[in-house]
Amino acid sequence: MNDPSILGPGAVDPLVALRPWEAPEVTSWGRLPMNAVDRRSGVLPLDGDWRFQLLSAPDAPVGGAWSSAYVPGVWTLQGTDDLPQYTNVRMPFAEFPPHSPAANPTGVYEREADVPAEWAGRRIVLRVGAAESVLLVHVDGRPVGISKDSHLAAEFDLTGLVRPGSPATVRLTVVKWSDASHIEDQDQWWHGGITRSVLLYATDPLYLADVTVRAHHSGELRVDCQVRSAGGALPAGWHLTGELDGQLLVQDGEFDRFNAEDERVSDFLGEARLQTTVPEVRTWNAETPELYDLTVLLHRADGTIADTSRHRIGFRDVEIAGRDLLINGERVFIRGVNRHDFHPLTGRTVSYDDMRADLVLLKRFGFNAIRTAHYPNDPALYDLADELGFYVVDEADIESHDHAHEIADDPRCLNAFVDRVSRMVLRDKNHPSVIIWSLGNESDYGANHDAAAGWVRRHDPTRPLQYEGAAKLDWAATDDASDIACPMYAPLEDCVAHALSGRQTRPLIQCEYSHAMGNSNGTLADHWAAIEATPGLQGGFIWEFWDHGILQRVSDGRPAGRAGAGLYDNGVAAPGYRWAYGGDFGESHHDGAFIADGMVFPDRTPKPAMYEHREIAAPVRIECFRHEGIVLGNHQHFRGLDWLAGEWRLDLADGTTLTGPAELPNLRPGETAAVPLPFEVPHDGGEAWLTLRVTVAEEQPWAPRGTEMCVPQIRLRGPAVAPDVPVDRQVEVDGEGLLLHPLLTAAPTLSLWRAPTDNDELGGMAGRWRTWGLDALVRKVVSVRRNAGRLTVEAEYAGTTGVVRHRQVLTPVEGGVRVDEEAELPEAFDDVARVGTVFETAAGLDLLEWFGQGPWESYPDRSAGAPVGHHGVPVDELFTPYLRPQESGGRHGVRRFRLSAPDATGLWVTLDEPRQVSVTRYRAEDLASARHHDELVPRPGCVVHIDAAHRGLGTASCGPDTSPSYLVAPGIHRWSWTLRVL
Ligand code: GAL
Ligand code: MG
Repeated sequence: MNDPSILGPGAVDPLVALRPWEAPEVTSWGRLPMNAVDRRSGVLPLDGDWRFQLLSAPDAPVGGAWSSAYVPGVWTLQGTDDLPQYTNVRMPFAEFPPHSPAANPTGVYEREADVPAEWAGRRIVLRVGAAESVLLVHVDGRPVGISKDSHLAAEFDLTGLVRPGSPATVRLTVVKWSDASHIEDQDQWWHGGITRSVLLYATDPLYLADVTVRAHHSGELRVDCQVRSAGGALPAGWHLTGELDGQLLVQDGEFDRFNAEDERVSDFLGEARLQTTVPEVRTWNAETPELYDLTVLLHRADGTIADTSRHRIGFRDVEIAGRDLLINGERVFIRGVNRHDFHPLTGRTVSYDDMRADLVLLKRFGFNAIRTAHYPNDPALYDLADELGFYVVDEADIESHDHAHEIADDPRCLNAFVDRVSRMVLRDKNHPSVIIWSLGNESDYGANHDAAAGWVRRHDPTRPLQYEGAAKLDWAATDDASDIACPMYAPLEDCVAHALSGRQTRPLIQCEYSHAMGNSNGTLADHWAAIEATPGLQGGFIWEFWDHGILQRVSDGRPAGRAGAGLYDNGVAAPGYRWAYGGDFGESHHDGAFIADGMVFPDRTPKPAMYEHREIAAPVRIECFRHEGIVLGNHQHFRGLDWLAGEWRLDLADGTTLTGPAELPNLRPGETAAVPLPFEVPHDGGEAWLTLRVTVAEEQPWAPRGTEMCVPQIRLRGPAVAPDVPVDRQVEVDGEGLLLHPLLTAAPTLSLWRAPTDNDELGGMAGRWRTWGLDALVRKVVSVRRNAGRLTVEAEYAGTTGVVRHRQVLTPVEGGVRVDEEAELPEAFDDVARVGTVFETAAGLDLLEWFGQGPWESYPDRSAGAPVGHHGVPVDELFTPYLRPQESGGRHGVRRFRLSAPDATGLWVTLDEPRQVSVTRYRAEDLASARHHDELVPRPGCVVHIDAAHRGLGTASCGPDTSPSYLVAPGIHRWSWTLRVL
């Protein structure tokens, strides 16, 4: 970045000469200490278009040609040739730490800042919200400072460098690859740029340097304030006051002045405390996040105000007692999710509104906790978490995954570890939402971690600390850098066994579990059943919130960038666009669709698994049905039920539905009470289900009145089976024994395969299925026998390593045909995707109505969130567009369904038992051969699967497979169904 225009001919920029991108000991130079003072006033924003050029290396000369780039933003999504790249563990370049590649995209950003004339005599500070990964700062050609660390702000003192009333030229040089990249090897897209806002602010020369708030649920409040200046001592008479919701707080005693006597003082002038006890304090917790407004004022001797800092604070305590994590003395369940700062158009730059929308959605789906995977998130996220109510695990920006072992003990990185952790703590310490500090992710465990842990434990004894890499060596250890056992993807049995072992020493809260890649989150309900039933287990954080698909133009493969606003809807990219994942930008090294592993699509549309979570987290539950009525329970930790309303609904198999208002009893947390059955249940009508639809009655900051919160239900009566009546008629079959039917374009045949889910692929099942030949079974008819009206077709379905014997008995019954099927799977096929029937219908049948679980997609091991009832959904909306096409759109527990055209013609099917059914526009092979949705061509008719057995989804793409009870066993399977014309 040698630029003669600003440095003079032949001059070498000292910041470049230092080569800080390959110097791990250099974490910063000229960067101000981190603090928690609020600087929202007296600010000059510098966001917008900056002059920009992309150099091939940090020491390449700055050329003449400037283009422009938007700040905040990543250049990788703004039209440069340096495009996003996705790698998980492996580094995107070959160099070992601390080295970076010679080809090292370096963005030079430049603009004028009109420093206000009224800032004369004031201290002037530049803040760069975040830049990845090394930032070099020059003002008017003079070197100002260096900072590393892509997810925290860097501030530089410009007093004396800029002249109030005149423009100053600010140049920010951002080097993409550095020694720091090796400790920012998180599983996400690699970008380069300035991702958070840039601004200048001004203070009095003597200013509030930090504010530390300790607010306990007893009502005790302590606010410690530090004062600094460029030099000199604190003049007599300067003092602090505070206001808490309008109540005056006064300075408690003298300022501790460390340098009062000494003329050669440092900039640290003193520290003083405001203190009070708030009677009948409204405490903060994630359910009722009560906040108070605190204003800290630094007064000059004449009473005028020299500096101000505003905070929204919450009174709460977090502690570990034995193996329980307590909030205000209560053992709470942690229903968490891992969240990245992500946006499909702007990458790591996220707006306040977007973050708010993330959290609002999470609240509505029952989440109460966030791990800021894997770095300090945008500062506004913590304000929102305080306000809306989330427990936050705040994680430091340390992940040295590819070279973890070398780095964890490398003394050259010691400073970086302590710097990253301590700066995070200094920034976020006043947020009530932050309940746990995390030292980072997947960086092995070494002395550098212990150093950082030591710093945190001394500086903030009010919060526990966690680090997965430390605790994984022995969950029961008591002397490592983690106060919590926080494994990732631990088998449920291991967690339960540990809690029952008598060895448990600390809370067990998984930092990652239930990997949400593609069609996933199988056994989530089993996890929660165990967590709620086992003392010592307290929850975990689902991996993860987002599918990180980037909106991409198909025609030229370019990211859509900010121009892509509105070019997606309901999880789907507009025609001509798609959601890019690893490899789609031509990367030579990449990890494919592993970047798409979230509970929501890239546009935040919830996936069906979100409904599963919502129900598992239900605040009100139906405990059981007794003679005296329905027993309801309040499953919250701090709230009554008064903010909720209920409505009863009774669904009978014959189609009858009754609804009526529900009185929710006044229950305290943990209490249960019986309420009378709201209806006289009719004697006829068959199977009967009672559902309580729970909605928000009192508007919440995150949900208007009427928002549905959960739909718990209970079965009141089992099914009554009405036998089919055989009739005297013939069924038509072709020469191969295949049913001929006017509404079917492909006759019912046996299916053992599904388009592999990501779990199937990465867990190895899909490979076995291909080896066995399940994706291309060859059918051979063995015999066709007629016995009166009944037709028996025996067939063999041959794979490459085994043959399945299949029998279909077709019986004409009143209104249609009954199909009784039997398949015998050889022992070799000991784990197949499904055993069932597939057929295809004529075009025009566009509406599916069914009695069974719904309306959302559900699978055998992910069916807690889909109540039994009468549901109807257009066929095109049944399918879930997981980023990489795969098995999708299934509905569990279907008793019967009808597929109809707008004129109400069509077919209907009744099933012998509740079965897994799917109706889509795609054959399994259509899905399996596509990489993206824009490659799929919907078929005009419907592809219908009725499964006697369907394999659970599990989470084997990263973590445990489904449990054995959800596998499809070899041997004999029998099922039957009746097809009728409407
Ligand atoms: C974890 C890791 C996450 C992510 C996840 C898989 O090991 O901490 O960052 O890689 O696995 O999606
Ligand atoms: Mg990793």
